[in-house]
Amino acid sequence: MKIAIIGTGYVGLTTAVVLAYLNHDVAAVDKDESKLNLLHEGKSPIHEPGMQTLLDEVWHTIRFTPSVAEVVPEAELILIAVGTPPKKNGEADTRHVEQAAREVAQVCHPNRHYTLVVKSTVPIGTNRRVAEVVENVFSARGMQGNVSVASNPEFLQEGLALQGAFYPDRIVIGANCDDAVDALRRLYQPILEQTFDSPSSLPRPAAYHLPPMMTTDANSAEMIKYAANTFLALKISFINEIAGLCENVGADVTEVARGIGLDSRIGPQFLRAGLGWGGSCYPKDTTALLGVAAQSGYEMPITEAARTVNFRQRERIVEKLMLACEVHASKERVSTTASPLQGKTIGILGLAFKPNTDDIREAPALDIIRQLVEEGAHVRAHDPIAMPNARHALGEIPIHFTEDVYQLSYNADALVLVTEWELYHRLALRKLAKQMKTPILIDGRNVYSPQEASAAGFHYIGIGRK
Ligand SMILES: NC(=O)c1ccc[n+]([C@@H]2O[C@H](COP(=O)([O-])OP(=O)(O)OC[C@H]3O[C@@H](n4cnc5c(N)ncnc54)[C@H](O)[C@@H]3O)[C@@H](O)[C@H]2O)c1
Repeated sequence: MKIAIIGTGYVGLTTAVVLAYLNHDVAAVDKDESKLNLLHEGKSPIHEPGMQTLLDEVWHTIRFTPSVAEVVPEAELILIAVGTPPKKNGEADTRHVEQAAREVAQVCHPNRHYTLVVKSTVPIGTNRRVAEVVENVFSARGMQGNVSVASNPEFLQEGLALQGAFYPDRIVIGANCDDAVDALRRLYQPILEQTFDSPSSLPRPAAYHLPPMMTTDANSAEMIKYAANTFLALKISFINEIAGLCENVGADVTEVARGIGLDSRIGPQFLRAGLGWGGSCYPKDTTALLGVAAQSGYEMPITEAARTVNFRQRERIVEKLMLACEVHASKERVSTTASPLQGKTIGILGLAFKPNTDDIREAPALDIIRQLVEEGAHVRAHDPIAMPNARHALGEIPIHFTEDVYQLSYNADALVLVTEWELYHRLALRKLAKQMKTPILIDGRNVYSPQEASAAGFHYIGIGRK
C-alpha cells in the first residue's frame, strides 16, 4: 500500500521502517530540518536498539521529505504520528495533530479516497475534531472530499520499539466506517498473520501468539490508550508506595514484588520498585487524562495518587542521600547548619528516563540533578547515550559530564544510580568504592543486592529494602 507518515519521531520513524520492511511503499514527512538531514544521510535521529540496522536495510525505499504536498496526494493511507505535548495546564496539546490534518486536507485530490489515521495519543474526541478540520478545509477549497478518519493508538515502548511494532500484543482500531477498518487490516495483515520473515536482529519471540485486531469506536480507542498507560503507571506507583512502607517496617520490596507477581491475576511485570516513571508518555498521558476528566466534571483520585507517589520518589531519593551524608559527617564529627549536600560531589549514573533510549523527556535524573544543585552539590553525570540530550535540556545548570563511568566516583561523596542501563549492572563496585571520599551508593533501581554492594565497601541504600 502507498503510505504517508506525518512525523518521524519515536513513533513515526519506527512505523516507517517497519512498514517499509513489510514491503509497503512508505513516505515520511517531518518539519524538523535537522532530523531530515540525518534521515537523508541514512542516519537514525533517535537511539533505539536495532533501528540503525533496519534503517540501513530499508532506507533506500523510504522517501523522507518536508512536504506533504509531495507525497500525500498519491497516498492511500496517511498516518499522523506527531507529538501531543502537555500544555501548561497539563492537557494534551493537539495543535500539531490538527495542523497535520489541515495540511493533509489542503493537498488531497478531489477524486480520490483516503484513510487518515491518528496514531498520536490524543484526548477523547480528537478524531471527531480531525474529521471536522478536514471537512472545513474541503469546504474552503470548494470541494467534496472523500476521507475516512480512524484512530489507531500506538502502544510501543521506547527501548523495545521495533519489537513492539513487529510483535504487538494487540492492534486497536477505532473507526466509525468499515472502509477505514478494511484499509488498516490490509496495512497490518503481515503483522496480524505474522507472514513476514523476521529481521535477523529481531527474531520472533518463541512464545509469541498472533495478535488480535480489536475494532471499536474512535472515542473508545482513544480512551484505551490513556487507560493502558495510566494502568501501567499506577502499577509502578503502587509498588513504590509499598516500597516506602517496607523501609519503615523492615520488609524487602523485591521479595514482596516476587511474592505478589506470582499471582497470575497480578503478574510480575511493572512491579519493580525504584525511581518511578518518566519519559514522554506516562507523565503527559496521566495528566492529560486528568484534564479530560476535569472537563467532564469527574474526579480521578487513583490517577492523581499515582502521580503524587511517582514524583515523591524523586524527592525521597535526595532525602535519603542527605541522610546518608549527614551520618557520614557525624562520624567525622563535622557539624554544620548548611545542607548536608553543600559542597559534596555526587555522581549520577544514568540520565535517560529508561535504558536503551536517548530520550530524556521527564527523566527522573533531571529533577534529581536540579535538586542536588539547589542544595549546593557538585554534580557529575554519566550516560552511555543520553548525555548530549541531557546537556541540552539542563542548559546553564553546572554539571560535569564524563564519558568514563569510573571517573564519576573519583573523590566523590556519593553515587546515585538513576537509570538501570545494562552497563551499570556490571560495574566493578570495589574499584568505584575505593576511589571515593565516602563510599555511599544510592541505588535508585535496586540493581545491586545490599550484600554485594556492602561486601564491595559501599554504604548501600536501595528502594524499599532493609
Ligand atoms: N514515544 C513513545 O514511546 C510513544 C509511544 C506511544 C505513543 N506515543 C505518542 O505518539 C505521538 C508521537 O510521539 P513521539 O515520541 O514519536 O514524538 P516526537 O516528538 O519524537 O516526534 C514527533 C515528530 O513530529 C514532527 N511534526 C510535528 N508537527 C508536524 C507536522 N505538521 N508535519 C510534519 N512533522 C511534524 C516533529 O518535528 C517531530 O519530529 C505522541 O502523541 C505520543 O504521545 C509515543
